[in-house]
Amino acid sequence: MMKMILSLAAGTILSSAAFAADAKRGQELFIKAGCYQCHGTVGQGANTGPRLGPDPLALESFISFVRNAASTNMPPYSAKILSDAEMADIHTYLASVPKPPARKDIPLLNNK
Ligand code: HEC
Repeated sequence: MMKMILSLAAGTILSSAAFAADAKRGQELFIKAGCYQCHGTVGQGANTGPRLGPDPLALESFISFVRNAASTNMPPYSAKILSDAEMADIHTYLASVPKPPARKDIPLLNNK
């Protein structure tokens, strides 16, 4: 019985992973694949790579850019390194990063 419940639970987790991109998994992949080294730990951008979130390129363009980045200063990542599903997880993660506060809401930048 216990075995059956466990396999049912595992099936549910696997099937939902196949359909829904997962921001938490995307965050892990963003670190593991080294994206953070050039784009900042939360994709906020740095002098080594542009900001990627919270408004990433549309998913198709995002994947296409990462696969074909060879002509830029970014290394290309083939589907062997990051599958389309993993790219979708990274994309979901980047879209979930909170927006920075507006300049007017930062007292130090407004002499308040
Ligand atoms: C060695 C540094 C480096 C690494 C590692 C890196 N990038 Fe980049 N990335 C760049 C640079 C530099 C650019 C700007 C390229 C250009 O336009 O010439 C860029 C551009 C991009 C763009 C296009 C952004 C836009 O708005 O046009 C995306 C998307 C992107 N990177 C995603 C990723 C992802 C996802 C990873 C990890 C799988 C990653 N990058 C790893 C350096 C890097």
